[in-house]
Amino acid sequence: MASQTQSDKDRVVIFDTTLRDGEQCPGATMTHEEKLEVAELLDTMGVDIIEAGFPIASEGDFAAVNEIAKRAKNAVICGLSRASPKDIDRCAEAIRPAKRNRIHTFLSTSPVHMKWKLQKEPHEVYEMVIAQVTRARGHTDDVEWSAEDGTRTEHDFLCRCVEAAIKAGATTINIPDTVGYTTPDEYFALFHMLRERVPNFDKARFSTHCHNDLGMAVANSLAGVKAGARQIECTINGIGERAGNAALEEIVMAIVTRNDVLPYTTGVNATLLTRASKLVAAATSFPVQYNKAIVGRNAFAHESGIHQDGMLKNAQTYEIMTPESVGVKQTSLVMGKHSGRHAFVHKLEELGYQLAGNQLEDAFVRFKALADKKKQIYDEDIEALVDEEIATAHDRIKIISLTVIAGTMGPQSATLTLDIEGKHITTQSTGNGPVDAIFNAIHALVPYQAKLELYQVHAVTEGTDAQAEVSVRLSENGRSYTAKGADPDTLVASAKAYLGALNKIMSKRNRMPGVENRIHSTDVG
Ligand code: KIV
Ligand code: ZN
Repeated sequence: MASQTQSDKDRVVIFDTTLRDGEQCPGATMTHEEKLEVAELLDTMGVDIIEAGFPIASEGDFAAVNEIAKRAKNAVICGLSRASPKDIDRCAEAIRPAKRNRIHTFLSTSPVHMKWKLQKEPHEVYEMVIAQVTRARGHTDDVEWSAEDGTRTEHDFLCRCVEAAIKAGATTINIPDTVGYTTPDEYFALFHMLRERVPNFDKARFSTHCHNDLGMAVANSLAGVKAGARQIECTINGIGERAGNAALEEIVMAIVTRNDVLPYTTGVNATLLTRASKLVAAATSFPVQYNKAIVGRNAFAHESGIHQDGMLKNAQTYEIMTPESVGVKQTSLVMGKHSGRHAFVHKLEELGYQLAGNQLEDAFVRFKALADKKKQIYDEDIEALVDEEIATAHDRIKIISLTVIAGTMGPQSATLTLDIEGKHITTQSTGNGPVDAIFNAIHALVPYQAKLELYQVHAVTEGTDAQAEVSVRLSENGRSYTAKGADPDTLVASAKAYLGALNKIMSKRNRMPGVENRIHSTDVG
């Protein structure tokens, strides 16, 4: 590589895979529009590389990677591909419009993966590595090669494959801890070993990619950097397969806060971390655990008397970083029904939203409707409202009205009117409780065979007039789809969440060629 200055050497490249490894985990499916929104924020916040998807996986993945490639302003746009020429060529086509693009191609190298998953001998895998990198280099000069299950790969073989991949033209070498099995010391030693034994080690940038099965993904990633890796693959909120991937926000803030022992830099604007966390949580409908480092709602809360006393005297007694440094705004009473459009737009900007046109108008109408029902409107209320506006902007099924009869004198019943692709249809259903009655009514109007996997209710703020935020997860054909709905009425929020998940199923089907996707609505009202 060209000669580097000291600061180049300490610069850690942040490779975000929220839209690929993150989105691929059960229930985290995002719509096309949500992916574009997340990519735009990642680009704005200074992520170096956005892995936008796996183009061969579906028409939907291809379309999202392709559109993100067209829109990205700063980040390198990367697509994932397996070793086959067809995969690699499809990936190249998807990322082509980007100003700067990368093909990330991977192959398993561990004994267990080669034997059972690939059913290939090591010498065949070795030849495939050379062929896949060579093919990818025919499309772009930025090629990353990953040794899948690298941490369980036999060292001699890993060294040979890495050397061959670099010789074939790979500019980044990733050593994934695919199954989240390694420990910081072991991962450090692995990179150290590669540095010692791979003769062309300095001709490529080395990368970490850690899964969190034993809760060590972030620690392992940082250990890899200490041993010479200069790229970290990670996701917002740590979403990803099984226990997830290394969390981007934790990596960035560990480097910022403990720069004395982690003397590196990243290009990420940390004040956008909270916004990114909320956007990804809203788009995937994956809730962030309350005590999650950096972005959990309790991350900066001090409940005990002793801690509060210390905080009042000097915040440094119990705070190692300020909430403002990661973009947390103090919860404030923002507005009520007399607040005007100008104040609303100002508040949106303060919260990091950029709405325009119809989306802004619709959000303002929703805000006014909410202010009529709820005296005090907090930042969290506005965020729930706008996130819902963004998530539902392209929905094909919308709720028009809902009346529920509940209480001790069953049966509970729901009368529901939906707008299904512009047509208003009404039905009435009974059920074992009001939520069951509503879901039965939706089933009657939109007879899809989806199974309800999860139903959860949270209060957005405090007080008995707080908005309820309901999460619903539906599964169809082995894939899960989660959505949220917010409303001061828990039953309306339930209907919105259920419809949100159904809309996601439809949006996914819409992007699969040859799949019938008409909504077979039945007017039983
Ligand atoms: O975990 C893993 O090994 C991966 C590879 C495709 C990089 O996600
Ligand atoms: Zn992974």
